[in-house]
Amino acid sequence: MSPSPASIETSPPSLSLRRPDDWHVHLRDGAMLRAVAPTTARSFARAIVMPNLVPPVTTTAAAQAYRQRILEALPDHAGFQPLMTAYLCDGTDPEDLAAGFRQGVFTACKLYPAHATTNSAAGVSDLARLEPVFATMESIGMPLLVHGEVTDACVDIFDREAVFLERHLDPLVRRHPGLKVVLEHITTEQSVAFVEGAGASVAATITPHHLHINRNAMFRGGLRPDFYCLPVAKRERHRLALRRAAVSGRPCFFLGTDSAPHARAAKESACGCAGIFNAPWAIESYAQVFEEEQALERLQGFASEHGPRFYGLPQNEEQIRLVREPQRIPELVRLDDGAGGTVALVPFHAGDILNWRLEASGGEDRP
Ligand code: DOR
Ligand code: ZN
Repeated sequence: MSPSPASIETSPPSLSLRRPDDWHVHLRDGAMLRAVAPTTARSFARAIVMPNLVPPVTTTAAAQAYRQRILEALPDHAGFQPLMTAYLCDGTDPEDLAAGFRQGVFTACKLYPAHATTNSAAGVSDLARLEPVFATMESIGMPLLVHGEVTDACVDIFDREAVFLERHLDPLVRRHPGLKVVLEHITTEQSVAFVEGAGASVAATITPHHLHINRNAMFRGGLRPDFYCLPVAKRERHRLALRRAAVSGRPCFFLGTDSAPHARAAKESACGCAGIFNAPWAIESYAQVFEEEQALERLQGFASEHGPRFYGLPQNEEQIRLVREPQRIPELVRLDDGAGGTVALVPFHAGDILNWRLEASGGEDRP
């Protein structure tokens, strides 16, 4: 979407913000981790790191080891704080979760309905079996992060999020009114309404891509796997509802990129992986949306304040500066894998011009 002339005229030449956090990101492991982690740490102070590795991060010990690998992948970003999540399975032990939370290893739990998305085969097949886990989490104040889609093959893929709300999330929130829930990467007007209507214990993250694209993007002039993610982008009506929610200033909506890198061969394949790699220019991408919606003064709330408030964490004191300098996003980024090789990824907005540029701090460069 291109900015309206009015927004160009009224935009300031630069914008300072509290350093934002990313409340939902996939950093992967091994070479991919070493390649992509700096692209997140460059913009964000903290990130909620998804646990859908192979094998998934299900225990406190696994999360501690993964956290260490993330920090080792970031020698130039000493201040970056990965916030770890536990991958819920049918057999999750509530005591281990509670112990990991009390020790400060886990910040939250992630619920993937089994087979809903990438590396979710070990996810939850029956929510009812996790009742003791939800009760423990509610009592200790541990947030539940939800991939909100049903996996029922009879439900159309574009309806899976809305049906999840009715069948699972609404009953869950009613059974556990004190449970903190983040409905992740929302894609529908139904989710916006659900979160707005729920109490203060329910919030949602919104990705840059769901603010910029609707489902047409996947089919523009041919099949475009770089716009395929889960939950899949929906109709224009839904994108507009997400934009209104993001810029509304409501504290129940905050930034979560869902940056999800996959090697090109895994995206450009007969059965391509879901995921959009947006980390390098995510904050600029959000700034563009807020500018287009003439709501730049609300970007800091969405990007840097609502998330910490929901999680009960301090806000970052450090500032970043965005300058209004149009930049063309490369078609491909080559990232150093920390072992003498490179990883090539197609970034979100490849080939597009974004209006804002994050000013480098501490001499780091773009990929
Ligand atoms: O598009 C997505 N990619 N959605 C998810 O839920 C998972 C993610 C991934 O891990 O690649
Ligand atoms: Zn995700």
